Amino acid sequence: MPRLQGKVAIITGGAGGIGAATAELFAEEGARVVLVDIDREALEAVTSGIAARVAGAELLPLALDVGQESTATTIVAETLARFGAIDVLVNNAGIRSYEPLHEAKAETWQKILSVNLLSYAYLAREALPALRASGKGAIVNISSTHAFNPRAGMGQYDVAKAGIISLTKTLAFEEVGHGVRVNAVCPGLTLTPFHVRRFAPQGKTEQDMRTETVTHNIQGRWADPREIAYPILWLASDEASVMTASVIMADGGTRV
Ligand SMILES: NC(=O)c1ccc[n+]([C@@H]2O[C@H](COP(=O)([O-])OP(=O)(O)OC[C@H]3O[C@@H](n4cnc5c(N)ncnc54)[C@H](O)[C@@H]3O)[C@@H](O)[C@H]2O)c1
Repeated sequence: MPRLQGKVAIITGGAGGIGAATAELFAEEGARVVLVDIDREALEAVTSGIAARVAGAELLPLALDVGQESTATTIVAETLARFGAIDVLVNNAGIRSYEPLHEAKAETWQKILSVNLLSYAYLAREALPALRASGKGAIVNISSTHAFNPRAGMGQYDVAKAGIISLTKTLAFEEVGHGVRVNAVCPGLTLTPFHVRRFAPQGKTEQDMRTETVTHNIQGRWADPREIAYPILWLASDEASVMTASVIMADGGTRV
């Protein structure tokens, strides 16, 4: 029996590396999937790719900006109109900034916190009535190894990721009586299109990155997005029925 058979899942940042891999795995496991992303072109490409590879996939792409509070209401309304239920929410959309804190701009703080933290809180809030009605609702919030292992140069991002851990635990405590589980996954270095684009100016190809040895983790390599999608799948599935307020480090063993 597929692990998400009959379930409806929303995934934000669904057109990005981890979001797209998760959407595809969820579709393979029987879920009807709502992919939300601000990048309409990438969203269309990801959705049609999954539809071509996964027979019978039921997908709803929504090109929306989760950085706006009102978007959460729209996502929930569109999902209920199309699929009639919400069983799983994967808050995954994320942006980066590289401003050291001594020069961090208010505008950047606001943007990072809106997309990387507040969108998780708003969409969870709006989806909760449907998640409670599901009886086995699950929220999986995508944080980062850097929630626990902060570094110089990405303070705004790392603060938002640490906030996601706190949000996850508070929500788990508040929702346990309503049958909604809330957990977080903390990826480490994961080879997504974002990083491929980032290293291209240095002359590095995706293949170079697949085979290079990295020093960030004890495995010494980049993770494939699908390796992050599996722990997300497990936490979203009924197999993880005892898991709530938990944090899975999917980071190859970050070196500190
Ligand atoms: N790749 C890594 O090494 C890594 C490591 C740790 C944590 N993460 C986290 O995993 C998540 C996914 O990362 P990824 O590497 O797949 O990133 P990505 O950049 O490939 O994907 C993120 C997606 O979010 C979308 N997005 C950005 N702003 C949005 C907005 N306002 N509204 C809607 N969609 C928006 C982007 O268009 C993109 O498709 C992020 O939260 C990221 O912080 C990634």
